[in-house]
Amino acid sequence: MKALILVGGFGTRLRPLTLSRPKPLVEFANKPLVLHMIEALVDAGVSHVVLAVSYRAEQMEQELRQEAEKLGVQITFSLETEPLGTAGPLALARDILASNDEPFFVLNSDIICNFPFRDMVSFHRNHGKEGTIVVTKVEEPSKYGVVCYDERGRIERFVEKPQEFVSNKINAGLYIFNTSILDRIQLRPTSIEKEIFPVMAEDGNLFSFELQGFWMDVGQPKDFLTGMCMYLTSLKTKDPSLLYKGDGVASGVMVDPTARIGKNCKIGPNVTIGPDVIIEDGVRIKRATVMRGAHIKSHSWIENSIVGWRCVVGRWVRMENVTVLGEDVIVQDEIYVNGGIVLPHKSIAASVSEPRIIM
Ligand code: GDD
Ligand code: MG
Repeated sequence: MKALILVGGFGTRLRPLTLSRPKPLVEFANKPLVLHMIEALVDAGVSHVVLAVSYRAEQMEQELRQEAEKLGVQITFSLETEPLGTAGPLALARDILASNDEPFFVLNSDIICNFPFRDMVSFHRNHGKEGTIVVTKVEEPSKYGVVCYDERGRIERFVEKPQEFVSNKINAGLYIFNTSILDRIQLRPTSIEKEIFPVMAEDGNLFSFELQGFWMDVGQPKDFLTGMCMYLTSLKTKDPSLLYKGDGVASGVMVDPTARIGKNCKIGPNVTIGPDVIIEDGVRIKRATVMRGAHIKSHSWIENSIVGWRCVVGRWVRMENVTVLGEDVIVQDEIYVNGGIVLPHKSIAASVSEPRIIM
């Protein structure tokens, strides 16, 4: 089977991290976001993945080609000369997607869950119609695409980002389509959610597959951290061997084997620590991601924050409230950062007492 992953967009909502790396390469639980998806696709028998990109992505091509080789999957980059939205990229990749009449996957690139690819395929074959959308339940549906469907799962309405409450069942951003969907899509910027799904729903050609377990769109820092907690919690039952056990480390913590943790630290719950990270003595970290090569000096306190690649956090620093440090930021000793979004290569010498962007 084949899959197309929508990796366009500039990832502006995940700045400052996406100023250094394209969103699909930002490490979520120590692995590039899009790789979580590609590995699960390969597991489900996908042999060819099309990455639909809307900007020149040499870095992404280079890194993902290496990974693809390891996984034994074919990867094709489908480059848009202008952003084609969420449907246009299917028309651009038509030759690949329609090379046989097997259904194919289409995925948003910024979501995390226990990808149910095999179950999606059997569900799709069973109902026999043109498309299957995975749906999940959320508390705040207005920032998503909302679906209404009958007891058999047949979708009656699809409303993208509704102003008024329609339902709390939303589009999880994972689809399977028959190749016939390609006849509905022109090679021009098109929104699959606004222009294609409503019509397919009206035709009775769209079915919903209810997702079990956790789901999160991790395309913004607050949700990234929430998604990380959900993912780490799920590992406790799914694959506890990926979690770290050691002195001063609570449950649900992932530590790269090359990271070093000092004495008398208290780490966790819900922390990921990347390769080559150095954590000095007496550090407290909870609900946070620390990226590759960062250095946290002694007695600092980090909560609900993301520390970017190669940052240096001084002694006795306190950082909280969705603070995000871009790549190579230096935080001087004894500084307090409350919800600071700090651009790459900055040095912070004064406390940030209210949430703001530091550039
Ligand atoms: N190739 C390409 N070209 N990809 C694009 C483009 C483009 O022009 N524009 C957006 N994408 C990709 C994004 O990278 C992302 O993976 C996906 O399309 C969806 O775009 P987002 O910008 O993340 O949309 P959203 O989060 O507001 O809403 C979408 O996802 C929700 C679930 O997280 C919609 O599909 C909603 O219906 C859905 O509920
Ligand atoms: Mg999104």
